[in-house]
Amino acid sequence: MKLGVIGTNWITAQFVAAAQATGAYTLAAVYSRHLATATAFIEKTAPAAAFTDLAAFLASDLDVVYIASPNSLHPTQTLQAVAAGKHVIVEKPMVTTVGELAAIQAAQAAHPGVFVFEAARHVYDPNFTVIQDFVASHPISGASLAYAKYSSRYDAYLAGENPNIFSPAFAGGALMDLGVYLVYAAVAWFGEPEAAQYLPRKLANGIDGAGIARLAYPDFDVTLVAGKTYNSTAPSEIYTGKQTLVFDSPGELNRVVLQDGSGSHDLTMAKAKNPMQDEARAFAEIIEQGDTARARAAMALAAKVHHVMAQLRQSGDIHFTNDPE
Ligand SMILES: NC(=O)c1ccc[n+]([C@@H]2O[C@H](COP(=O)([O-])OP(=O)(O)OC[C@H]3O[C@@H](n4cnc5c(N)ncnc54)[C@H](OP(=O)(O)O)[C@@H]3O)[C@@H](O)[C@H]2O)c1
Repeated sequence: MKLGVIGTNWITAQFVAAAQATGAYTLAAVYSRHLATATAFIEKTAPAAAFTDLAAFLASDLDVVYIASPNSLHPTQTLQAVAAGKHVIVEKPMVTTVGELAAIQAAQAAHPGVFVFEAARHVYDPNFTVIQDFVASHPISGASLAYAKYSSRYDAYLAGENPNIFSPAFAGGALMDLGVYLVYAAVAWFGEPEAAQYLPRKLANGIDGAGIARLAYPDFDVTLVAGKTYNSTAPSEIYTGKQTLVFDSPGELNRVVLQDGSGSHDLTMAKAKNPMQDEARAFAEIIEQGDTARARAAMALAAKVHHVMAQLRQSGDIHFTNDPE
């Protein structure tokens, strides 16, 4: 498939490498606001056409578009790509409001041959399935999920700059950036919670630098810890009576261990070195096989996730520049 990319930061280069490693994609076009940036990206990745005009990029000979622009641009660019008849792989978070989600679902309904995927890469990690299978076969007593990393842009924010990932104009913050991995994990493993509450630690500009969420289920609670202003080495855990499933962040999933009275049992599955390769392969399979059932299931999960995200954002009183009145 001919791949076009929007955004030229390191994550796009990582996705292009992952896509090429699957053997299913060839880089065909790069969109950037600046020709020099597109050209530099092409030089360090693979030969492709460079575009600075989004409409011309979308009208070019492409099958699938990967979008890794700042968060607030994802919905509009997704809608533009769908309207141009291209499949879309859009970085998390795909949307920041349920209205944007509804618009993407409506666009997809109007273009039934076009697939839209949210690049929630951890969902396609084999260790995500190990945990999902474990949860499905055990009565759950609770869980604690953590993902906190000191952002490479936080020093710039502290120095008075306005990096996109800490900006209300670009829908930044800990919940949108890292919390979304945790919400995906909780909703995929335990289902939709009965209630969701977020307690953010806000920066001076109103964006959540970090925060704690409680997802309430009928018989247990799941706590989420997300942060971009500190590094956490805390394990994530799922409790089932006297047994505990212990793993690193749901966004990383490098090790999964079951601890019980008889000791520790390593359940970790081997996975691709590039953390985006499993998702790139899954998206290619779905598109090439026209597997609408799998695509619908992925979109249904994304929709549940973004309904919970909306509840968390509302309870945390977090506002973005583009929010509807
Ligand atoms: N899956 C993962 O593991 C992972 C990891 C990191 C990030 N992400 C996601 O990838 C996306 C991009 O993150 P990032 O940290 O790379 O963001 P970023 O650096 O703020 O922006 C990404 C790209 O968007 C373009 N851009 C920057 N500012 C813009 C503006 N004001 N208007 C229009 N375009 C602009 C730039 O490309 P040009 O200069 O070429 O136009 C830039 O390279 C986010 O949604 C993030 O959640 C995912």
